Amino acid sequence: SRGIIIKSERSRTEKCIQLGDFVLIEGENADQPFVAQLLDFYEDGAQQKHAVVQWFSHITEIPQNKRKLLKREVSPQEVFFDQVSGYDNDIAVETIIESVLVCTAAHLYLQGRKKPQQFGKHNITMQLLYSFPNQICLRFSFSLQPLPGTPKTPRNATPEIPRRSHAAQKPASMLEEARLRLHVSAIPKSLPCREEEFQDIYNFVESKLIDGTGGCMYISGVPGTGKTATVHEVIRCLQQAAENDDVPAFEFIEINGMKLTDPHQAYVQILELLTGQKVTATHAATLLAKLFCTPGPKRKTTVLIVDELDLLWTRKQNVMYNLFDWPTQKHSKLIILAIANTMDLPERIMMNRVASRLGLTRMSFQPYTYKQLQQIISSRLNSVKAFEEDAIQLVSRKVAALSGDARRCLDICRRATEICEFASQKSTPEIVRMAHVTEAIDEMFSSPYINAIRNASLHEQIFLKAILAEFRRAGVEEATVQQVYHQHISLCRMEGMQSPTVSEIMAICSRLGACRLLLVESSNKYLHMRVRLNISQDDVMYALKDE
Ligand SMILES: Nc1ncnc2c1ncn2[C@@H]1O[C@H](COP(=O)(O)OP(=O)(O)O)[C@@H](O)[C@H]1O
Ligand SMILES: [Mg+2]
Repeated sequence: SRGIIIKSERSRTEKCIQLGDFVLIEGENADQPFVAQLLDFYEDGAQQKHAVVQWFSHITEIPQNKRKLLKREVSPQEVFFDQVSGYDNDIAVETIIESVLVCTAAHLYLQGRKKPQQFGKHNITMQLLYSFPNQICLRFSFSLQPLPGTPKTPRNATPEIPRRSHAAQKPASMLEEARLRLHVSAIPKSLPCREEEFQDIYNFVESKLIDGTGGCMYISGVPGTGKTATVHEVIRCLQQAAENDDVPAFEFIEINGMKLTDPHQAYVQILELLTGQKVTATHAATLLAKLFCTPGPKRKTTVLIVDELDLLWTRKQNVMYNLFDWPTQKHSKLIILAIANTMDLPERIMMNRVASRLGLTRMSFQPYTYKQLQQIISSRLNSVKAFEEDAIQLVSRKVAALSGDARRCLDICRRATEICEFASQKSTPEIVRMAHVTEAIDEMFSSPYINAIRNASLHEQIFLKAILAEFRRAGVEEATVQQVYHQHISLCRMEGMQSPTVSEIMAICSRLGACRLLLVESSNKYLHMRVRLNISQDDVMYALKDE
């Protein structure tokens, strides 16, 4: 294996360190060296020796919101494995003080050694205490006595003034960096404002895994409240914990109602993900029932995410019913995290008696307040000072007033950044201000569709309001004309207006379909024809709001 000779100033010894070794690296002060693991060595064109490392963080480097999750006092000697640290991991070899011998956390933990252990001359206690978003917390306490050095003739020049000289990577441009961080698909370093939800879901799955039982958690909340992001983060952390033998290994699969052509395809997909078998929906349902309802040979627990559950609605409700029912079977070893937009879906699809037998664990995600949205944007931007505070506040207020949808918030910020970038090319570079945000908001809400809604007839506008009301009631973003018609009539009644006739309703519907505001099922089903919106509910709400 590859190694490199380092000379310790402190102990005046030299020794060879190798890839994978843990090392102490000069910190801000002598008492608190940084801790890292060596991943690679190389020499650059200027014969400068570099090391690539995985950093471990001291508690002071961990964001407050994550520290809170530990729910305990942390000693300054503890360090944390930081998977996504934003630090430069390329350092000059001279800054390495010495190596410490550490055996891996999982190894120690498995052996149940929680008392200080003797490793060579180093006293190292390390135990896996907890894992939370992206952080595996290890407890180290080490004495700084080095291992006996292996005397060797130094091949490299004696380090002169040891200095931590990492050429910090400057982003090509601050605005570009900000834009990337704000992208909805960028995985944020942390999920501020969702610590409790994270913890509850984590604990739910963890406890079932440990007990070897099954269960279903029903997670609801309007779009953009971070449900999907939080659940995925939980799974990531649990997979990490399983790798460290902190929780039993499990099989993870996911389906998404939005991506299925037909609700019954859920069975087909689940079976295929689990076993690789491709069969018809009916056959798949039978095989899955058999798998989850009969005690089988020893198998791992399955954790199944069912995202966009609302869309698995069928007339007989059997898909949803099975998803809620399987985990309650004694031998299922099935943990389902069902994510939906509607809160009372289980009640509506099942008789209450059944609903209570299933004993669902529930969690609801509240829409973000403007303060939370502000915090989410700021934390995404982290230390990139690309936005004026007022600008962030404006976006947050605007979105919180509409829907509290974090995705919408990020979209506006990203667009504002682009507008600012464009302006900066022409004149002096600047950061994103209120004016850029205002422009982005106007642009986002001034699509031809929005103008079409604003210029639509009164009854067409009421029809759109009726659609929103119906979607909200049903929790499904699709309805029949008849269902919308009911809403339409009650809206008219509230306004003291005359209700349109059935044929008038059909005419309204086809006009809205013709200008592509609606997607209308092409068939002769008349009032049973299904309709969907071709633009987001937010846009409709925005357009219909009288300013
Ligand atoms: N608390 C948060 N911190 C950072 N980003 C967030 C947070 N909540 C949501 N987001 C981001 O907003 C977007 C929408 O979140 P998502 O989890 O898909 O919402 P939902 O599933 O509730 O519709 C994603 O890009 C996600 O990363
Ligand atoms: Mg989602």
